[in-house]
Amino acid sequence: MDSQEQLTGVSVDNSVYQRRRDEIAALAANYVRGDVIPEIEYTDAEHAVWRLVAERLQERHHSLAAPEFLDAAEQLDAGVEGIPQLQQVADRLDRLTGFRLQPAAGVVPFHRFCGSLADGYFHSTQYIRDGATPFYSTEPDVLHEVIGHGSALADRRFAQLYRLAGEAVRRVETETAQQFISKVFWFTIECGLLDAPEGPRAYGASIVSSYGELDQFRSADIRPLAIADMVHVSYDITRYQDTLYSARSLAHLEDVAGEFWASCDDVSIERLLAAAK
Ligand SMILES: [Fe+2]
Repeated sequence: MDSQEQLTGVSVDNSVYQRRRDEIAALAANYVRGDVIPEIEYTDAEHAVWRLVAERLQERHHSLAAPEFLDAAEQLDAGVEGIPQLQQVADRLDRLTGFRLQPAAGVVPFHRFCGSLADGYFHSTQYIRDGATPFYSTEPDVLHEVIGHGSALADRRFAQLYRLAGEAVRRVETETAQQFISKVFWFTIECGLLDAPEGPRAYGASIVSSYGELDQFRSADIRPLAIADMVHVSYDITRYQDTLYSARSLAHLEDVAGEFWASCDDVSIERLLAAAK
């Protein structure tokens, strides 16, 4: 048994994990909006993975997450003791901001994912990462969805940004425009930072749900938030980001990213890309 196995009590046999992950994912495949989200009977080992990661994240959040994110996470109150049932998280979000959750079997194609955001639905997986690698996940899992996105969606202003991104994707028709909107989504909603007196702090779901990236993000090339600057920057979702963008405040994020999503169309994005060449 290696040290990670000792921590979580979960087997490192990946095929066992994969079967369990697929079993939970299969429940989402039959879900129809309006149904009660399937309740998952999580094992003690799965709850232990949540506890281990959520506790470590919470420690880091106090000094590395943006105060606006901390307030939102407090509103959601997902807890560190064990994996919450998604329906309970969904009910709480619905009361707080009107956002709803629907179970997902894995990564949802960006157009469908964003189209749902425009309708106030967020696709969320229910399985948890392999206990053999508790601080790393190759795909979004319930920890990322609830602690990262769920927390943000508990705040009206962040939730509105998700909606605007969704509406923007629905509005445009070209692949190029969709890809650029997706890039702005990545550098804000997934990996965004907000300035604070002590230095930039994270609100982006990928960073606040990653123990490793919380430790690393301050070493990235952190630039002032500017949509045009993103044209030249590429990103790779499979590793920590080399370049990040920090907004001066949540109001600045709304002015820059929110305004972009609220007003962009195929023509304006084409012009933006051409002007940046
Ligand atoms: Fe995400």
